[in-house]
Amino acid sequence: MDGPTAQNIVNMSSEVILVTGGAGFVGSHTVLELLNANWSVVVIDNLVNAAKGGSKPASLERVEKLTGKKVEFHEANLLDRSALTRVFKLYTIHTVIHFAALKAVGESVEKPLEYYKNNINGTTTLLEVMREKGVKSLIFSSSATVYGCPKYLPVDEKHPTGVAITNPYGRTKYFVEEILKDLCAAEKDWSVTLLRYFNPVGAHESGDIGEDPNGPPNNLMPYVSQVAVGRRPQLQVFGGDYDTPDGTGVRDYLHVVDLARGHLAALPKVSIPGCHIYNLGTGSGYSVLQVIDAFQRASRQKIKYQVVARRPGDVASLYADCSLAERELGWRAQLSLDDMCASAWRWQQKNKYGFSPPPDGGADH
Ligand code: UFG
Repeated sequence: MDGPTAQNIVNMSSEVILVTGGAGFVGSHTVLELLNANWSVVVIDNLVNAAKGGSKPASLERVEKLTGKKVEFHEANLLDRSALTRVFKLYTIHTVIHFAALKAVGESVEKPLEYYKNNINGTTTLLEVMREKGVKSLIFSSSATVYGCPKYLPVDEKHPTGVAITNPYGRTKYFVEEILKDLCAAEKDWSVTLLRYFNPVGAHESGDIGEDPNGPPNNLMPYVSQVAVGRRPQLQVFGGDYDTPDGTGVRDYLHVVDLARGHLAALPKVSIPGCHIYNLGTGSGYSVLQVIDAFQRASRQKIKYQVVARRPGDVASLYADCSLAERELGWRAQLSLDDMCASAWRWQQKNKYGFSPPPDGGADH
């Protein structure tokens, strides 16, 4: 494990926020917002889905530049208990924000054991070390996927979970939620907040950090932006015969900066023991064709697409009731679909190959 030692940590005497998976897409945007709010931040990441930079992941180097502040970084796997214990010994930790997880739906069907081990055992190892060190505040990165096929819309937090989840990735989020609920029921001094994200997209307004998927994107927005920038010839629209206004799937797309700010809004909850659950979305659904249209307007590029068969496991529509987060956290998404597309496009234009250099070493980056 790399990273700072007790000797060179001079400015970490106050409480810090420990962010697992802080080098990833949602993680790096959240780290940036935390730094801007004057929190000291420590990141643990195993770089499985984040580009290396110099001494830190590339995303965190950019975050440091954007904020003018430093992030402490430790390359470590959550399954490595002794590495975790070493990190916990170095700091006084206020809260852990836990993003680190494998998240590719299709891959999870191929490699269920890897997903269960990494996402579930990684979390239980983290929880054991937290308990050992007396850190009992956690914000968990959950997903709207726990709702499975929705029985009603918009989906609120009372909607049943765990039924009809179509892939192992989704089940890992559901199982971890159940583990955390059981923990809070058994040990009354824990405070856990489950944040159920809908569809995070977009990028920081600078265009210097953003989503950088490994290989062909599984998700709509990064695929669309890679078509727009010329990395891929065309988009496949999965299904044109859903029971939706234009026949394509409807989702609740949420700007990643709004989502990051949702974590800061949830921080005061950690002084209240128990398990708190919030949807984070915008409350509005947009279809695939509406997203394509908005992206075309933002980028002034033509997005070539072809409507093909439905993708197995997809639901027709899923969007959130976010009124609980507004009432209890004072949080509400501020940014529109146009903002999401404009920022995703800025990131994609400035970083055609994400955080990596062009594959041929050429100069079109
Ligand atoms: N879609 C396409 N073409 C693509 C990719 C997606 O038409 O190349 C469509 C999908 O069929 C769907 C919509 O775009 O209608 C959104 O698909 P995404 O893959 O972007 O998002 P999902 O809603 O399927 O999945 C996301 C996250 C999951 C999470 C889930 C919870 O990726 O991690 O939301 O609902 F579990």
